[in-house]
Amino acid sequence: MTSIEMTKGARSHSVLVVGAGYVGLTSAVCFAHLGHQVVCVEANPFRLAPLLEGRSPIHEPGLEELMVEGVLSDRLHFAPAIGKEEMTGVEVALLAVGTPPDENGDPDLTQLAAAAREVSANAAGDLVVVVKSTVPPGSCEAIELVCAEAALEGVRISVVSSPEFLRESRAVEDFLAPDRVVVGASDSQVADLVADLYPAGVPLVKTDRRGAELIKYAANAFLAVKISFANEVAAMCESLGTEAATVLLGVGLDQRIGKDFLRPGPGYGGSCLPKDVSGFQALGRAMGTPTRVVAAAEEVNQEASRAALMKLEMGLAGVAGKTIALLGLAFKPGTDDSRDSPALKLAELLISSGARVRAYDPLARVESFAGERVDCAFDAIEDADALVVATAWQEFSVLSPMAVAERLAGRMVLDAAGALDLESWSEAGLVVYGIGRGAPVAFHPVVWPPLRWAHHRSGLRLLDGDTGFVAG
Ligand code: UDX
Repeated sequence: MTSIEMTKGARSHSVLVVGAGYVGLTSAVCFAHLGHQVVCVEANPFRLAPLLEGRSPIHEPGLEELMVEGVLSDRLHFAPAIGKEEMTGVEVALLAVGTPPDENGDPDLTQLAAAAREVSANAAGDLVVVVKSTVPPGSCEAIELVCAEAALEGVRISVVSSPEFLRESRAVEDFLAPDRVVVGASDSQVADLVADLYPAGVPLVKTDRRGAELIKYAANAFLAVKISFANEVAAMCESLGTEAATVLLGVGLDQRIGKDFLRPGPGYGGSCLPKDVSGFQALGRAMGTPTRVVAAAEEVNQEASRAALMKLEMGLAGVAGKTIALLGLAFKPGTDDSRDSPALKLAELLISSGARVRAYDPLARVESFAGERVDCAFDAIEDADALVVATAWQEFSVLSPMAVAERLAGRMVLDAAGALDLESWSEAGLVVYGIGRGAPVAFHPVVWPPLRWAHHRSGLRLLDGDTGFVAG
């Protein structure tokens, strides 16, 4: 029987982390918490300034507390650039810089190559470079060539892939108690050294570099498939007049399927899922390997926000000229990130269809927004023609439906994020729709097709009293 190897978390190492974004900063802070000696390099002065004052530039539960702990214990330091001093004694350099898609959708690896070059050029002795950023298979091998070119003579640089699976809003928790650690290396000793960086007792997947790189893409692509599948089932539930949440629970409790990531909504967003779904397909095209399942998931996702718009168009007899209160702009609750946010996408669709959008979000950082942004939920709701909940923040779930009903001019509420208790909201006199719960559709011949199929071979002719249809 194959036994699963566990991480040992054996001894402390000296680590340099390049990049203080979600992944880099969380890794640096958590490595220090685990007892490693860490220098975190951040070139962006706006990101570095708060770090030097002991404040986290990103909203992530528990991160700032552990960051202060690391700085006070002298295990965590921040620096603006990679130099000989920062590299002194460093055994492992972890690269967590951005790999954004370029104008053709291909990942731009220039920041990664630049960071690899700098750590290699400043390394006085042998060094292990860990690529944390999500990169297409083959990248670590390419980066190793870049490193070899930049390194001093006699210095050996080994490049290892160890992708990160942390979720925004639960990054610290995911880092300290992950489902698995993945290490892809060409050398088993180097793989063990990297595995030692992580908490002890976690299932460890050791593979080659291409395998590790692919695991990250395939994992995010599969999560996207689950969500899009849930959205298709939700649409089916609306046609059938049944509850998607219960149907999907019934499906997901089968352990082979799993109940997580089956929540229907306005589509998936964020900085990873959409990017990795297109990256996975780009990889398929480059390798000549079809990625049809994932392509379908992406197509369903692109339709998801349009489906929410259509519900409003139908429920309001047109959204043009109407004022819509939009609660939520972040791509999911618990984060200030609005990159590729379905809530923002829905807002843009509403605005381009002629609606006025008045939005409230407790945290979201939004660079440009064509609607109006207000400071509290009730400022958005006051006298609006309809209310849309687009991000499932807890504070929206506890809004009083009576208080909303008093302030809202229209009656329609669309809970695209699955945040509200539809029953109590309906009791307050509001007309509430969800995704996979209730739909502004009057009639579907639900029972008729099976009845026809049931009598298909019997020759019996049936007349339906309500519809007048004849089967047989
Ligand atoms: C994701 C992966 O979960 C993580 O492992 C990876 O490292 C980075 O990408 P993140 O982008 O932080 O993490 O968010 P996640 O919680 O996965 O949600 C992604 C999107 O899917 C959000 O828009 C969320 O609202 C949506 N979602 C999630 C659903 O629509 N339904 C679900 O059931 C779950």
